[in-house]
Amino acid sequence: MSNQEIIDLNAKYLCMTYARFPVAFVRGQGCRLWDADGKAYLDFFSSLAVMNLGQCHPAVVKAVQEQVATLTHISNLHHTVPQARLAELLCTNSFADKVFFCNSGAEANEAAIKLARKYGGDKREGRYEIVTTLGSFHGRTMATISATGQEKVRQGFAPLLEGFRYVPYDDLDAMEAAISERTIAVMIEQIQGEGGVNIPRPGYLKSLRELCDRHRLLLILDEIQVGMGRTGKLFAYEHEGITPDIITLAKALGGGIPIGAMLARGEIAESFNLGSHGSTFGGNATACAAGVAVMNTLLHAGVLENCRAMGEYFLSRLHGLKEKFSFIKEVRGKGLILGAELDREGAAIVETCLKEGLLINCTVGKVLRFLPPLIVTKAEIDEGFSIMEKVLAQQ
Ligand SMILES: Cc1ncc(COP(=O)(O)O)c(C=O)c1O
Repeated sequence: MSNQEIIDLNAKYLCMTYARFPVAFVRGQGCRLWDADGKAYLDFFSSLAVMNLGQCHPAVVKAVQEQVATLTHISNLHHTVPQARLAELLCTNSFADKVFFCNSGAEANEAAIKLARKYGGDKREGRYEIVTTLGSFHGRTMATISATGQEKVRQGFAPLLEGFRYVPYDDLDAMEAAISERTIAVMIEQIQGEGGVNIPRPGYLKSLRELCDRHRLLLILDEIQVGMGRTGKLFAYEHEGITPDIITLAKALGGGIPIGAMLARGEIAESFNLGSHGSTFGGNATACAAGVAVMNTLLHAGVLENCRAMGEYFLSRLHGLKEKFSFIKEVRGKGLILGAELDREGAAIVETCLKEGLLINCTVGKVLRFLPPLIVTKAEIDEGFSIMEKVLAQQ
C-alpha cells in the first residue's frame, strides 16, 4: 500500500481524533524511519518519547520474540517471571517498594489518583483533593483530564471528576495557598512536556518536597514523558536528590510495547489491598519482558551517558540556531527533551522538516519540541540540524 492508500483507509474507518501528518510509516531502525513510498526520515521525536532506545532495538526485539513464543499472556490470577523481574528492577533502581502495572500513562495516573484517595481515606481522615499545575498533561481518561491543567482537553466532557485544584507551574506560594484540610497530594511533571518543555527553576522540586512534608501530603511525580532515561538519569527525580511518594511511568518503559506502571512507597502502597484495583492486561508477560530488556539496556549499555552528552551537544546546537534566527525566543532542555520557543506558530516548520526527511514536533503552538532516541549520535544530530537550518532560513 502507498502512503495515500493507507491514509484513505484510515480516513474511512478511524475516529478522527488525531491531526495526522500525511505519512504512513512501514519500517524503522534506530533513529531512522521509512514511509510506505520508500522515503527515509531521521527521527527526532521517538514517537512521542516512547522509542527511547530507537526503533527495533535488538535487546527488545529478542525479549519480545522469545516471550511471545513461550508464554504470551497470563491473567493476574497467576504469577509470571517477566512481571516479577520488571517489578524487582523498577524497585531496586528507585525509591519505590511496590509497583502496580497497567497499560498506558493515563492508567498509571489513574492508579496514582486512586491510591492517593484510598490512602487519604485509610490514613488521613478522608482527604481526597489533589493539587496539579496549569499547563500540565496527565492523560485522556475522565480522571486524568480532570487532573490535567489545560481547559482544551476538558472541553465537552463535563461533569468532570471532583477533587482537583490547579495552580501555576513553578509557583510555590500558589501551591501552598491551594492546600486545604481536604488535600492529600500534589501531582506534577518535573518538566511539563505537552505544556511546552517548561523547566522549573532549580530547587522547585526540593521545595515542593519540603512543602509536602510540612503538610503531610503525598508527592506524586508524573514521569511518563521524562522518566526512563529521557533527562539523562533513569528517573528525572534523581537530579534533585529528593524522594517522591509515587511516580508514574509508561511511554518508553516497554520499548514500544504498551505498558504503564505506578511505583509507590510501601506504606502508601498498602492501601491498594486485595480487590482495590486491577487490569486484565496490566503486567502482561510480553510487555514486561520488553520492559526488562529496556531497563537492562538503559542501565548497562551506556545509554544514559549518551543521553547526557548528546543532550548537551543538542542544546549547544539549539543555542547556535537562536543566535542565527531572531524568531527563536528561547531554547531549553535537559538530557534529550528539548524545546525552542518561537515568536510565531511552529506548525509550518514541522511540516517542512517532515518534507525534508526530519521528524520533529511542535507543542502549545509555538514551542518546537525535540525528543530524539537516547541512542542518537553526534553525526545524526548534525544531519538533523542541517535540515533545520535550511528550513528555518525559509521562514
Ligand atoms: C506527562 C504525561 N502524562 C501522561 C500522559 C498520558 O499517557 P498515555 O497517552 O500513555 O495515556 C502523557 C502522554 O503524552 C504525558 O506526557
